[in-house]
Amino acid sequence: KKVVLAYSGGLDTSAIVPWLKDNYNCEVIAFVANVGQGDEELEGVEQKAINSGASSCYVVDLREELLKEVIYPTLKTGAVYEGQYLLGTSMARPVIARAQVNLALELGADALCHGCTGKGNDQVRFEAAFAALAPQLKVIAPWREWNFTSRQSLLDYLAEKNVPTTASATKIYSRDANLWHISHEGGELEDPWCEPTEQVWMWTKSPEQAPDKATYIELSFAQGELSHIDGKEVDPITAIAQLNAVGSENGVGRIDIVENRLVGMKSRGCYETPGGTLLMAAIKGLEALVYDRASLKYREQVGLEFAQLVYDGRWFTPLKDSLLASATSLAQELTGDVVLKLYKGNVTVAKRRSPNSLYSEAFATFEDDDVYDQKDAAGFIRLFSLASRIKALHQQQKG
Ligand code: ARG
Ligand code: SIN
Repeated sequence: KKVVLAYSGGLDTSAIVPWLKDNYNCEVIAFVANVGQGDEELEGVEQKAINSGASSCYVVDLREELLKEVIYPTLKTGAVYEGQYLLGTSMARPVIARAQVNLALELGADALCHGCTGKGNDQVRFEAAFAALAPQLKVIAPWREWNFTSRQSLLDYLAEKNVPTTASATKIYSRDANLWHISHEGGELEDPWCEPTEQVWMWTKSPEQAPDKATYIELSFAQGELSHIDGKEVDPITAIAQLNAVGSENGVGRIDIVENRLVGMKSRGCYETPGGTLLMAAIKGLEALVYDRASLKYREQVGLEFAQLVYDGRWFTPLKDSLLASATSLAQELTGDVVLKLYKGNVTVAKRRSPNSLYSEAFATFEDDDVYDQKDAAGFIRLFSLASRIKALHQQQKG
């Protein structure tokens, strides 16, 4: 029997390797997704996997597909979960799960395994993707089966199995990083009456430490796709790195939220998405110029639906294609330039322009124009308020 394990090199997945061999009597193949979590996590990960007892280890670079297939399209829908979360962890899951499935099919494996806890969203996201892509494969979720309850018990188990590890018994935060964001949960953050210390944040400068002078950056979009930064053509991977750097330097992109997990409980998380925050601000700034009221409202509804879909791990569904088709069609209008002003944790739109702008200075300022006749407003208002007028007249007659 062969199992493909989504392996990170951390303590949990290191313990899963010998645990699978003990409990399922199987060959374990480690699968490592490079989603831009950084060289530190990836360095030596193959050797670690082999040391844990994996028969082989595959590191797959998923950065480009994560950006092109998930992150940029999701951005176009305007998806934000519960008003603030830019879905960094959620978006990576379908891409990781799909690559894991592909490897399992290639190697003729019998099962897929992940190290998500039984209390979170990630287990649902992985397994929903597995179900959509390879329902015939068995899924093993050790956290829902084994009896380890602490990091110390996992360390003891690794020692018993002679697996070398550099993990320590105390690790304060649970973090998850990719090229779009880093999340921090656990430790003192579990108490929502506890402000995160500077130790929590890894990517961004604190707004207090950020420069006293504002930074301006110009983002240009063609039909909803980022095309230029400060007038220079960009490709998606280097663009996000550049935006992350500028955002971080200015203390932009930190959020500290209490969110509703799909599995019913609330959790508290601190997330850093510097580049994403800039992109979202620019897109919203441009949308304000080009969408009429009804289109903008519809885009907001699509964004809400899409945020929940991504959060809930429903990527491989017909609903995703349908919502994305809507967003892509709306985004045909999203062409133009936005200048953002970054200052001590804040982002504001300083300037914006678009060939598709519906905003017309001429109509707003000129006294005579043939598009907007102020006399037309009177009839519009009478009809717009007709139902209220009739109701009030009824009440007056009764009273
Ligand atoms: N709560 C966020 C989400 O569900 C972040 C999860 C972080 N995941 C992790 N395995 N540390 O998307
Ligand atoms: C986990 O439980 O694996 C992390 C948190 C989450 O998925 O919500």
